[in-house]
Amino acid sequence: MKLKMLLSVCACLMLVACGGVDPDSPLGKRQALFKEMLKVSEDLGGMLRGRIAYDEAGFVAGAAALDRLSREPWQHFPQVRDDERSKATAEVWQRQEKFQKMASELEQATAELVRITTAAPLRRSELEGAVQRIEDSCESCHKVFRAY
Ligand code: HEC
Repeated sequence: MKLKMLLSVCACLMLVACGGVDPDSPLGKRQALFKEMLKVSEDLGGMLRGRIAYDEAGFVAGAAALDRLSREPWQHFPQVRDDERSKATAEVWQRQEKFQKMASELEQATAELVRITTAAPLRRSELEGAVQRIEDSCESCHKVFRAY
């Protein structure tokens, strides 16, 4: 019993020590998903803009991964604001309908990219348009719902 308590105290201290968000908490889960989304979308944009080498198979796989990821973070926003370390603005909870609408706009934009990448031959201009739409969607939601 004592050991159990000691262990849980240690776990808490460890979390506090690294400014740590518990990776299993809703905040930890949505942050991890957003980070992954950023990485994948930066790679897609990077390939089109020549920052990294364009590789068609990699691009197609990235598009599919981003589409899967874009459906995930929203379920980890609880009904009420959960954590003062969250970078979400109060608007997320005050304007839930608008928030959900922007989430589904991103989902539609990533689905559109998948549709384009599954119909050969891939056309550069179409890919660019679809990736731009995704990036705009991230940005317009962040403008309202994310505090920097
Ligand atoms: C519907 C709104 C919405 C859309 C669309 C959206 N985000 Fe976010 N994003 C948020 C909110 C809200 C937060 C703050 C989450 C928190 O801290 O509770 C956030 C946080 C982040 C973070 C910071 C995570 C961290 O570690 O604190 C990154 C990175 C990010 N988003 C990337 C993206 C990318 C890339 C896209 C597009 C592919 C995207 N987001 C689309 C709402 C959105």
